[in-house]
Amino acid sequence: MAKKKMTIPDFKRFKEEGRKFTLVTAYDYTTASIVDESEIEIILVGDSLGMIMLGYKETVPVTIEDMIHHIKPVVRGAPNTFVAGDMPFGSYEISIEKAVENAIRIYKEGGCDCVKLEGGAEYADTVRAIVKAGVPVMGHIGLTPQTAGSLGGFKVQGGTPEGARKLLNDAKKLEEAGAFSIVVECVPSGVAKALTESVSIPILGIGAGPYVDCQVLVTQDLLGMYGDFKPKFVKRYANIRRQMIEALNEFHRESLSGEFPSEEYSFNKEVEGFEIK
Ligand code: KIV
Repeated sequence: MAKKKMTIPDFKRFKEEGRKFTLVTAYDYTTASIVDESEIEIILVGDSLGMIMLGYKETVPVTIEDMIHHIKPVVRGAPNTFVAGDMPFGSYEISIEKAVENAIRIYKEGGCDCVKLEGGAEYADTVRAIVKAGVPVMGHIGLTPQTAGSLGGFKVQGGTPEGARKLLNDAKKLEEAGAFSIVVECVPSGVAKALTESVSIPILGIGAGPYVDCQVLVTQDLLGMYGDFKPKFVKRYANIRRQMIEALNEFHRESLSGEFPSEEYSFNKEVEGFEIK
């Protein structure tokens, strides 16, 4: 039986009932269709596709066109999973009008169920305007990779009393502005717990410890596909990269030895009246 696609009211109910859920990334049709067959409740087409699919060193170069190009096949591949689409760097900072216009483009052309944007209290008015325009918004605070440079790099955020208080204020302002959930990235577990208990919308934690409403991981990280780099918070549930390399080498070896393709994989019927003289 196909799984039931979750909705924003479902996520609100999960929070009220204390039921945990999960979010992973996908950037293409095949991966999305695999996630769709699993129990995972949310797919994020994150701008992490900049590194994982496009080979950039960071998320900054990712464009709206890149996002829409990747959101579309994910939506086609995962008809039974709620899909979030990231707003890339430069698409929501210039003005509120531009942010609304770009959010509508991603939502309408991509066909996803919400957009996600990075930033706290300073983006509350932007979030409010996008929600008012009819596009559901997922917030993202803590370590915000698009502006990691100004945060001093890829570091744990909210590790001081002032930092923790700022995150609390950010979460409350985003909730007031109408965000239906908030990704909290790389913060101490105790701070993530305080955030989870202080707002009535789900907190989706990545590197934020166990006391959040939803655990988030990048699919390629949890499946062990991306390479050797592994942040502390990533648990590898498989080593698919190694299995892929082994399968490719096996194909290479059998092709060179003639073991592949055997009769089983060949069209053996003679063609009547055809012979090379
Ligand atoms: O782009 C992304 O994959 C993300 C997750 C890390 C939450 O924003």
